[in-house]
Amino acid sequence: MNLTHPLNRIEFGSQENIGNMMTMQEALTLLGDWVKNDKLVFHMKQVGHLMKSFAISKGYDEPTQHLWHLSGLLHDADWDQWPDDHCRKIIEELEARNQDPRMIKAIASHGPRYFGVEPHSEMDKMLYAFDELSGFVHAYSLMRPQGYEGMEVKGVRKRLKDKAFAAQVSREDIADASQRAGIPLEDLIQFVIDNQLRA
Ligand SMILES: [Fe+2]
Ligand SMILES: [Fe+2]
Repeated sequence: MNLTHPLNRIEFGSQENIGNMMTMQEALTLLGDWVKNDKLVFHMKQVGHLMKSFAISKGYDEPTQHLWHLSGLLHDADWDQWPDDHCRKIIEELEARNQDPRMIKAIASHGPRYFGVEPHSEMDKMLYAFDELSGFVHAYSLMRPQGYEGMEVKGVRKRLKDKAFAAQVSREDIADASQRAGIPLEDLIQFVIDNQLRA
């Protein structure tokens, strides 16, 4: 992501569309049309799964679980074809499809340093928190012979301190996101280890 394309907006979608959500099949079709990079699709599925798992852990109802799932599943949908227009393109698409404004706002604020939109709701904050951390834990699983098996929080923390490992993952964003979510980083890492979708 780069800093050259802030969204310069504070409102996303329309309140009239609260509760309007595409089906899982429609979301997967959109990803199939827009994203040719399988690793990126997998990243979005992982983040979507974490979002849904978190909503379940909070006891939220099924429509809310679906809303959280979609936010994660679609958050980088435009990154493959329009990296310079990330995440404007997906936001405009979801607005054109009259999707729930809470989902559009969460996607718009998944990188506050890049898009200039602050996460406010719990869903906004958790999408921001899971995005980088999910990718980091996934990278760590790939270098472990046992993958996710026996993975511990302290191992992830050790890698976070090793600046050469997965150097493209911003430690600053991970720390900032955990602070904004009000969840200790250890707990967030444990949640990701326990709930990450595995290849
Ligand atoms: Fe992104
Ligand atoms: Fe992402």
